Amino acid sequence: MRKKVTVVGSGNVGATTAQRIADKELADVVVVDILEKVPAGKALDMLEAGAIEETDSRVTGSTNDYSPTAGSDVVVITAGLPRKPGMSRDDLLNINYNIMKAVTGEVVKYSPNCIIIVVTNPLDAMCQAVYRLAGFAKNRVIGMAGVLDSGRFRAFIAEELKVSVENVNAFVMGGHGDTMVPLPRLSTVAGIPITELMDAATIERLVNRTRNGGAEIVQFLGTSAWYAPSSAVVDMVEAILKDKKKILPCATFLEGEYGIKGLYVGVPCKLGSAGVEQVVEVKLTAEESAGLHKSADAVRELCAVIGV
Ligand code: NAI
Ligand code: 2OP
Repeated sequence: MRKKVTVVGSGNVGATTAQRIADKELADVVVVDILEKVPAGKALDMLEAGAIEETDSRVTGSTNDYSPTAGSDVVVITAGLPRKPGMSRDDLLNINYNIMKAVTGEVVKYSPNCIIIVVTNPLDAMCQAVYRLAGFAKNRVIGMAGVLDSGRFRAFIAEELKVSVENVNAFVMGGHGDTMVPLPRLSTVAGIPITELMDAATIERLVNRTRNGGAEIVQFLGTSAWYAPSSAVVDMVEAILKDKKKILPCATFLEGEYGIKGLYVGVPCKLGSAGVEQVVEVKLTAEESAGLHKSADAVRELCAVIGV
C-alpha cells in the first residue's frame, strides 16, 4: 500500500520537506496551510517536477481542509512563525502554541493512527503541547531538532578537519535552544573521538557555532533555515516509513530516563515503524549530565508558561 505523509505548513520548511519526500519517492504527500492557493500551487509545481525527477509520489495541496490528509502514516507539523532577526525561538512560544491548538485536533481527527513529527519552535515545548493536545502515546509524538543540530556539528567538524562528512558522527542532546548540549566526547571521525583530533579551544569554537547555528542562518537570511531542517525531518520520516530502527537524536517524552521526568527533551532514540521504539541511555559525565539538566530546566520553564 502507498504510504502517505501530511506536511502542515507550506512555508520554507514545509514545502522543502514535501519536495524532499517526493524526490525520494518515500510517500504521497499532502501539504496543508491556511493560505489560499499557495499549498495547491506549490504541490502542483512539485508534482510536475516529479515527471523530471522520475518519482511517482503524488503531491497535493489543501487550504484549511484536512479531509485529503485522512489516513496519513506520518504528519509533519511545520505550521507557525519562524524567527526574525533579534527573536529567540522562545519569543515564538505563545503565537505558535495557539497554532498547535488549531492544527492538532484536525490531524488527530483525520489520521488517528499517525506518527506526528513536530518541527515548530520552540521545539521541545511545542512537542509537549502537541503530545498533550493529541492524547497519543508518547512514542507517536516526536520532535525534530537533534538531527539538525548534530548535522550542523558534523558539518563544522568535517570542514575543520577536512574530512568527508560521511566519516563524522556527532552527538547533541538537550532542548533545541541556546542550552543544547553537544557532546565532543561522543562525537567521532571514523570512530575516533574528536577530542583526540582537535584541541580544546577548537572544539569549544565548533560547539558554540553549533549552539548558534540557527541564529547564524537568521543573520544571513532574515528568517530561519529550511534546507538542513527539511533534510533532518526527512531522515526521521524515512526511518519511520522504512522501519529502519535508526538511532537519531529526537525530542521525546522522558519518564525518568537521564533522570528527567515528564518532559520532552532531545536524546538518542531508535526510530522505526512505531515511532520512538527505544530511548537509548548513555552514561554521561557529571558535567554532561548537568548540562542536560540545565537544558531540561529551560524547556520546563517554557512548558510552565503555556501550562503543558
Ligand atoms: P514559514 O513562515 O516559511 O512557514 C510557516 C507556514 O505555516 C506558513 O506558510 C503559514 O501560513 C503556515 N501556517 C501558519 N498557521 C497555520 C495553521 N494554523 N495551519 C496551517 N498552516 C499554518 O516558516 P518556516 O521557515 O517554514 O518555519 C516553520 C516553523 O518551523 C517555525 O516555527 C520555525 O521556527 C520552525 N523551525 C524549527 C526547526 C527545528 O529544528 N525544529 C528548524 C527550522 C524551523
Ligand atoms: C534552526 O535551528 C530556527 O530552530 C531553527 O535553524
